[in-house]
Amino acid sequence: MSVLVRPATAADRPTVERLWLMFRHDLSEMEGLLPGPDGTFRSDRLRSAFTDADWAPYLLTSGDRPAGFAFVRDLTGPVRVLNSFFVVRGARGRGIGLRAVQEIVARHPGRWEVAFQDANPAAVRFWRRVAAETAGEAWTEERRPVPRRPDVPPDVWISFSTGGGRPGDGAPAE
Ligand SMILES: CC(C)(COP(=O)(O)OP(=O)(O)OC[C@H]1O[C@@H](n2cnc3c(N)ncnc32)[C@H](O)[C@@H]1OP(=O)(O)O)[C@@H](O)C(=O)NCCC(=O)NCCS
Repeated sequence: MSVLVRPATAADRPTVERLWLMFRHDLSEMEGLLPGPDGTFRSDRLRSAFTDADWAPYLLTSGDRPAGFAFVRDLTGPVRVLNSFFVVRGARGRGIGLRAVQEIVARHPGRWEVAFQDANPAAVRFWRRVAAETAGEAWTEERRPVPRRPDVPPDVWISFSTGGGRPGDGAPAE
């Protein structure tokens, strides 16, 4: 299955909004969260991805079908953050996620970070693999408390660099 990664446009937003629901629904199983009364999930990051100058939304496609999305934030800061990343279930396990991340980080060389939860074992394996494939041994992993949420487990943060720069030698992302 081939995958194309391209910046999502305003015309792609309805598609990305539906993918967002699928993404949040997947994560909600691990977080034990129910949707809101209207059947949706909080979408502040989705809004930021399409409106904030420092963010970039990407759409993953296979032919004319959507295969996933990615949101990047802090594009102009010292450390870019892969903020949200999703591959539709029918396309998983084929290397699409790995190839898509590599394409996105190659577009923005420098220091990168991504956060995920220990409770998401697919993400734990996936991001370690992405870091190793992208940065060899030059990546680090640490647990950081979630700001203003002492009630939830710490996030796992993976840091790596593309095209120069060392992981962890800059300002924290949050
Ligand atoms: C995590 C996710 C992005 C992986 O996408 P994918 O396209 O299936 O991943 P790939 O096929 O590129 O996998 C690359 C490597 O990651 C690891 N991996 C991916 N999914 C895995 C799983 N379910 N279990 C264990 N390892 C996994 C494997 O090492 C895999 O390499 P291999 O197939 O050669 O063993 C996808 O499952 C997803 O969107 N999940 C829901 C949303 C989510 O959790 N996003 C990340 C949290 S921020």
